[in-house]
Amino acid sequence: MKHGYSIEPKSNDLAVDAQGLVKLFGDNRAVDGVDLQVKAGSIYGVLGPNGAGKTTTIRMLATLLRPDAGSARIFGYDVLKDSQIVRQLIGVTGQYASVDESLSATENLVIFSRLLGLGRAESKRKAADLLEEFGLTEAAKRPLKNFSGGMRRRLDLAASLIAQPPLIFLDEPTTGLDPRTRAQMWETIRRLVKTGSTVLLTTQYLDEADQLADRIAVIDRGHVVAEGTVDELKASVGTSSLQLRVQQEADIMEARRIVNHMLAVQSNVSSEATKITAPMADPDRVTDLLLALREAGIALAEVSVQKPTLDEVFLSITGQGVQEGATK
Ligand SMILES: Nc1ncnc2c1ncn2[C@@H]1O[C@H](COP(=O)(O)OP(=O)(O)OP(=O)(O)O)[C@@H](O)[C@H]1O
Ligand SMILES: [Mg+2]
Repeated sequence: MKHGYSIEPKSNDLAVDAQGLVKLFGDNRAVDGVDLQVKAGSIYGVLGPNGAGKTTTIRMLATLLRPDAGSARIFGYDVLKDSQIVRQLIGVTGQYASVDESLSATENLVIFSRLLGLGRAESKRKAADLLEEFGLTEAAKRPLKNFSGGMRRRLDLAASLIAQPPLIFLDEPTTGLDPRTRAQMWETIRRLVKTGSTVLLTTQYLDEADQLADRIAVIDRGHVVAEGTVDELKASVGTSSLQLRVQQEADIMEARRIVNHMLAVQSNVSSEATKITAPMADPDRVTDLLLALREAGIALAEVSVQKPTLDEVFLSITGQGVQEGATK
């Protein structure tokens, strides 16, 4: 039996099957009818700005929060009716946040291992292995209260990996990590999936979803606003993306009007204030566009045509940039 779990997944197809999940906080519809299907053995990314409802959705799927409406099954088990079983099939990072501050990293991991029924020697070995994997060996003996934010995050993930459960929820696993540790975390996540787990992760980083996720749901204000593979989402924005930079900032509004008109799209003005990005289905129209801009007397500093980035996908779907949405 996989993972040594006593409970077998009822459904081998879908690790997560959620229909119409709703969560209200007062009159705030934090999650407002979310459907999610995550295939077993895949990495699924839930992408969205601050306050979109990512954590609330995960908490409902992980039986930590009761949905106000809708239903969800984890490997075929209902999160409400079969919550005890569901809990044995999942791991959630963040749930070990209340580790003992006065104990060392090693001691904390050993305690979790023992709680999960591992023997003393195996617990010690497991703790040492995980600390090594997460680059915490040197800090192993230090009490947790002396750990940095990034170190805590790594220990948190390490703790949730002691029992490698069939489904792992990772809520913003790499937020606040330095680039090297982040890359390491990505490797760990890929390895988890190679060895049989399913991972549902939330992120605000488009490149992270791009790198890791087989499929992505973009959520905004409690709604799934787009769902698909990375390629599908990129394609939905247009086969390519046009980037224009005007020489004079004063020309930007007129330039944008012309772009929207000529390409029949909604273009975006970037924070640099002289740059316009627009989805483009037909590269052939660029000639006409450039002529129209010249006729209007608008001088360009730069023109390029690129494959859309996930950032642009996000921008075009939600009407706001991730950075913009991410400022608290
Ligand atoms: N326990 C709570 N009580 C009241 N409101 C809450 C609670 N938890 C979340 N909210 C609200 O629900 C909405 C969604 O929050 P949630 O934490 O799910 O967003 P998120 O997508 O995880 O955001 P972030 O990227 O900042 O983690 C927000 O408006 C938030 O203020
Ligand atoms: Mg959150």
